[in-house]
Parts: sequence; structure tokens; C-alpha cells
Amino acid sequence: MQADLDWRDGGIPVSTRFDDPYFSLVGGLAETRHVFLDGNDLPARFVPGFHIAELGFGTGLNLLAALLAWRSAGMDGPLRFTSFEAYPMTGDEMARALSAFPEVADVAAPIVEQWGSGARHITLPDLQAEIITGDAQQTLPAWQGMANAWFLDGFSPAKNPELWNGAMMAAVGAHTHVGGTFATYTAAGHVRRALTEAGFTVERRTGFGTKRHMTAGVRG
Ligand SMILES: C[S@@+](CC[C@H](N)C(=O)[O-])C[C@H]1O[C@@H](n2cnc3c(N)ncnc32)[C@H](O)[C@@H]1O
Repeated sequence: MQADLDWRDGGIPVSTRFDDPYFSLVGGLAETRHVFLDGNDLPARFVPGFHIAELGFGTGLNLLAALLAWRSAGMDGPLRFTSFEAYPMTGDEMARALSAFPEVADVAAPIVEQWGSGARHITLPDLQAEIITGDAQQTLPAWQGMANAWFLDGFSPAKNPELWNGAMMAAVGAHTHVGGTFATYTAAGHVRRALTEAGFTVERRTGFGTKRHMTAGVRG
């Protein structure tokens, strides 16, 4: 199935299926960096072979922010990135969404090109990315990989509950190395409890912008 999009406020993609925007109306890239990079203590924890996994590939903005951080940190070898996505955008939709962020234009161009040509393994000299299409409720439990850090970026738990339920959070925990981490923008109590049950030591952190709190954690 494809993404169903509406474009609001000068170019913010909004999912009509979930009635939720793909990124914050204020700050997009800054929010990604605060929540997903700082929330996973990146780039400080980067080591060769580091593997990020993500629920919800969307526009690819989080991948681009991570790759920029990897490059700025001067890492050797490729960043490994696996993302799970049920309703992929087309290449044109991705390009339109990302045009809101001129600072990622250069890093985005070859990735959008590969994605637009139908590739779901995206390879650059410093990136090995795989986008696993289908409902993550099936594809994540079947995944053979293990992540060092998770970006939990479904639509809001109220609108996209299946991406945040106990079974999904348990699957996230089962696919995280000991000492690995997660970060998410939500501070919903049931998500925090499910992640605790999944084996993480969970911490509430300061959210981005007007959001008071977000959540991060370490796998014991
Ligand atoms: C907030 S957006 C992700 C934004 C994205 N990380 C970015 O950088 O643009 C949430 C994503 O979760 C996806 N999604 C929702 N339910 C899903 C499911 N059951 N399995 C996999 N992906 C799902 C949506 O299609 C959407 O792309």
C-alpha cells in the first residue's frame, strides 16, 4: 500500500490515513536531532558497524539526519540503518517533503534517486540501508537483525496504536543489543511501561519545543 498524503502549511506532508503529520510543524530536522540523535546519545556512541533501526521510514528525514551525524563524526565504514515502513511514499513525494530542508539536499539526492527507482536496499560508500516494507507487526518479529539504537517514530500512539503496543515494544526489545538504546518523542505512559516490560531502563527526558517530555532508554 502507498502513503496517502495531503500537503499543508506550505509543504508539510500529512497522512490522511492516520491524520498526523510526518514531522513537526516547527523545526523538523531540529526535532529529529533532539529526539532521535541526542535521545540515543549519538553521535557519541557511534562505532564502526553501528546499526540503527527505525519504526516508520516516512520521508527518510531521520535517516538523513543520522547519516549527516555519521559523516560529521568522521566514522570509517558504512552506517547500517534498517527501517520498517507499511505505506511507502513515492520518490517524488519524498523529494517534495525533503525540499523543506535545504541543509539535507546534498545528502538526500542519491538516496531519493535510489528510492525512486524502486530500491529498498540503499547503498552508498558510507551507508547500508534497508527499508523493509509491510506491516511492522509482522516484519519486525521476522527480522534477523539486532540494533544498537532505535528510532521509534510511528505516528502518535493515539492515532497509530498498533505501532506502540506491548507486542511491538517487546519485539523492539528482542531486537536490541544489551546496552543498546531507544528514543521516541512520545511520553505516553503505556508506551513507557511496555518498553520497561521489554527490558529497557526507561527515562523521561526534556521534549522538543512545546513538548514537555520525550522518552529514552537503555536495554539491560
Ligand atoms: C511519523 S511517520 C515517520 C517519519 C519518518 N521517520 C521520517 O523521518 O520522515 C510514521 C510512519 O510510520 C508508518 N507506519 C504506520 N503504521 C505502520 C505499521 N504498522 N508498520 C510499518 N510502518 C507503519 C507510516 O506509514 C509513516 O511513514
